[in-house]
Amino acid sequence: MNLQDQKNLFDIPEGIHYLNTASLSASFKAIEEAGIKAVKEKSKPYLIPTTDFFDPVIKLKKLFAQLINTDDYNRIANIPSVSYGLSTVANNIKLNKGDEIVLIEEQFPSNYYVWEKLARKYKGVIKIIKQPTSRENRGKLWNEEILNSINDKTAFIALGNIHWTNGTIFDLKAIRKKTRNHNALLIVDGSQSIGAMEFSIKEIEPDALICAGYKWLFGPYGCGYAYFGPYFDNGNPIEENWSNRFNSENLSHLVNYESKYKPLANRYSVGEHASFIYVQMQIAALEQIIDWTPKAIQEYCKEITTYFVKTLSENGCEIEDSDTRANHLFGVKIPESIDKDALKETLLKNNVYVSFRGNYIRVSCHLFNTSDDLRVLSDCILNKSL
Ligand SMILES: Cc1ncc(COP(=O)(O)O)c(C=O)c1O
Repeated sequence: MNLQDQKNLFDIPEGIHYLNTASLSASFKAIEEAGIKAVKEKSKPYLIPTTDFFDPVIKLKKLFAQLINTDDYNRIANIPSVSYGLSTVANNIKLNKGDEIVLIEEQFPSNYYVWEKLARKYKGVIKIIKQPTSRENRGKLWNEEILNSINDKTAFIALGNIHWTNGTIFDLKAIRKKTRNHNALLIVDGSQSIGAMEFSIKEIEPDALICAGYKWLFGPYGCGYAYFGPYFDNGNPIEENWSNRFNSENLSHLVNYESKYKPLANRYSVGEHASFIYVQMQIAALEQIIDWTPKAIQEYCKEITTYFVKTLSENGCEIEDSDTRANHLFGVKIPESIDKDALKETLLKNNVYVSFRGNYIRVSCHLFNTSDDLRVLSDCILNKSL
């Protein structure tokens, strides 16, 4: 499918150049409407059926399962944040002294601190794979170094599908193969890719996939998703809430305490995850993403960014090679000669929204953006008269 821009579905005024979905996505109108409807329903709680504690959550899990290509929605848990999902993972991993945890340089903090703590607890070793300094084939070399770092001492590798600041794609399929050969787990943070890039659980078979929901999945802040593979089937959740127990639908029998959990990953969902407002917004969001398809989103982003990337690369900016980076999110390293503070002011004046992350200006786009947003950004960076 070849998508046209979908600006009409959003509420972003002309003249606003929002290139920052990697930070926080804009709700499209269907999400806003679903949220408002659910807010109003709370004013008449007697009209909310008790089945709403369960059925909409199942619908949501089915949608997420479809998006990441896995058959069983019971492998999905609702989580409030990536840090919550990764704490669940950490809670179910024991290390031997000297076991190695492989991480990527400048990984998002929620995907670092938790491992630092785990390593301290068991006297494990954190191994950080640095971005190669060479400009040529950097993404390819980085991936090679990641693969070379996995050995019999590796307990697990935790990384994103792409790097959150510069968009470098990590070859999860090859990493999965290597981790399997060495009996190591693969933990993926999909926050910056799921929804905007194709992803298949059946193809990658990660042990866990943890995602923030408020970026490329267009959910409200405070709702995320996790997939847990068979390694976690009988694990320990970090909290015990009533609704994750077997037969919890039978509300009048809740005090007949139940020792059994619902199947598979259900035990890992956060308390009150049936949030009537959030879940309705999340359903509206995922239905639309599935309809657009992540593949078509990626293609659209490629189309609107190609000229921008070419222009900036020809003018001294560094951007990862297109075959080893994402199209919906990438970093632009600007030459030292450009004054960053002055640039920030120019961007603000011209209503251009991007993130400054690490050494990069992180540019991220979606279907409400057009090549014009990128032209304004490139004019600001190159100090052309606007
Ligand atoms: C790669 C990545 N992971 C996770 C998060 C969010 O983490 P948390 O849900 O713990 O706030 C972000 C937010 O920017 C991110 O970029």
